Amino acid sequence: MTNSASKKPSSITITRPDDWHLHLRDGATIASVLPDTARQFARAIVMPNLKPPVTTTEQAVAYRDRILAALPVGMKFEPLMVLYLTNDTPPEEIQRARDSGVVHAVKLYPAGATTNSAAGVTDLTKCYKTLEMMQKLGMPFLVHGEVTDPEIDIFDREAVFIDRVMTPLRRDMPELNVVFEHITTKDAAEYVAEADHHVGATITAHHLLYNRNELFKGGMRPHYYCLPVLKREIHRQALVAAATSGSTKFFLGTDSAPHPKGLKEHACGCAGCYTALHAMELYTQAFDQVDALDKLEQFASFNGPDFYKLPRNKDTITLQRESWTIPAELPLANTTVVPLNGGETMEWKFV
Ligand code: NCD
Ligand code: ZN
Repeated sequence: MTNSASKKPSSITITRPDDWHLHLRDGATIASVLPDTARQFARAIVMPNLKPPVTTTEQAVAYRDRILAALPVGMKFEPLMVLYLTNDTPPEEIQRARDSGVVHAVKLYPAGATTNSAAGVTDLTKCYKTLEMMQKLGMPFLVHGEVTDPEIDIFDREAVFIDRVMTPLRRDMPELNVVFEHITTKDAAEYVAEADHHVGATITAHHLLYNRNELFKGGMRPHYYCLPVLKREIHRQALVAAATSGSTKFFLGTDSAPHPKGLKEHACGCAGCYTALHAMELYTQAFDQVDALDKLEQFASFNGPDFYKLPRNKDTITLQRESWTIPAELPLANTTVVPLNGGETMEWKFV
């Protein structure tokens, strides 16, 4: 890290980071969003919630080829593929995934929890043979940690998931490597901090920067709507404390999730924030706000590869303290996407 003479550094240089939770979508959308990620990150865990979902190794290999075909010439990027777990995923599929060398994890979407989760799991105990294979092969299990019970208040779904799903799962599969994805609560941050080394968590930039007030400031603001939904300020503070604590368990996962502008600004708007454009600027701002820039590299560039047992990146990136205006809208296939904070000013700039 480069420190200027003044107390606040004017620039920061860190080992190139990776994004451990990313949505690239499919078709022409990939080419619209991929350069934003590839500019900043060497690798990303690519979410499999396509229509239809990526449930087999064969589909994951084909999806990876489509991603690499959309990568602009001269850019380097490695997509780390993920299988979408269903009630019927056979244990043999996990062996095929491991043998492929390109599938790095399996994702749990509780059926109905979020975008394109209809084919997800209705009862995790139906998947125990497959989870046992993952445990045996050291295949990480990425968990969207929200219950879908409509009786449970949407702001409580993550905390209830810990009691109803995470605790029994960890009791039954103690050696399974589990990533609690995009955690949003103090409850989840504490759960992960107290768990053993088999458990990690990703944290998004938007959950570090905003609480749920952001959704309703001066009116309904759909571009701040994502799942799990933003929570109270005490939860945001707990996430910032976890990310900047120096713990090896928390790592960067943007959950950048592009949706066309018209489907966000809608009577039943889609969940997801587009943050790939300015991901590292957003994270740097969040760490700078609490004077923890010295903790950014561990969170963004070391903890993720260490958890996934992949090598750390060798090259570096630099961000400068410099104002710039986020574009209000960006091309997305034949439509547009509104980046988080579109039209507003950022204090950090990726160089
Ligand atoms: C994601 C999406 O749009 O695919 N949406 C979101 O709000 N985060 C799905 C997800 O990760 O839950
Ligand atoms: Zn996601």
